[in-house]
Amino acid sequence: MPKPHPYQVQDKYFQLAKQKGYRARSAFKLLEIQKKFNLIRPGQNIVDLGAAPGSFMQVIREIVGERGRVFGIDLQEMEAFPFENMKAVQGDIFEKESFFEAMKAFGFEQADGVTSDLAPKTSGIKDMDTGLSAELTDQAAYLSTQILKKGGYFVGKIFEGSEFQRVLRKIKRQFREVHVFKPEACRDRSYETYIVAQGFLASKINS
Ligand SMILES: C[S@@+](CC[C@H](N)C(=O)[O-])C[C@H]1O[C@@H](n2cnc3c(N)ncnc32)[C@H](O)[C@@H]1O
Repeated sequence: MPKPHPYQVQDKYFQLAKQKGYRARSAFKLLEIQKKFNLIRPGQNIVDLGAAPGSFMQVIREIVGERGRVFGIDLQEMEAFPFENMKAVQGDIFEKESFFEAMKAFGFEQADGVTSDLAPKTSGIKDMDTGLSAELTDQAAYLSTQILKKGGYFVGKIFEGSEFQRVLRKIKRQFREVHVFKPEACRDRSYETYIVAQGFLASKINS
């Protein structure tokens, strides 16, 4: 297993990830989300935002199988995966044209689902960290509205702060059903939670 990613906390989930061959403990957050909402299905095309070091992508690949595809993007370079239907690119989610091009080059323009575990480099100043997280989640949700098929889903991590309700309200306008869910594996991070949005209504937020 590679050395811990800067976002990696070394606890029981870290040890478990090591045992199971996941690149990060975050894998268990997505597994809990999947257990509760059963979003990811075999054969789907999924985009993962803020993907490094790649444990969400590993979980997704296990579920979508050989017929599905997983495309991940992160500011940080990721070690390649040994499967043709997984692609990890280095890039910034705010550079949307490059992102769309890279997705297209991998062979898909539309996705069944978008997952986002994006997180800013934290400063310890709550207002600043939650504000940056809201910006990332807002952008992730926006990108999802550009690439999701009608009825698709979005899962996005967000740090709860003063911008949380605004981002949540915006997402609620675009999806049929929206839940806020905090997996057991994030209990140590008091203000980290996930927005789980299902049934994309296929009307774009903005351009
Ligand atoms: C918690 S880590 C993701 C862990 C990952 N889900 C996994 O399972 O391995 C959050 C990631 O968000 C990425 N990130 C932050 N801002 C970004 C941006 N503007 N564009 C792309 N990635 C970004 C960071 O580089 C970091 O790797």
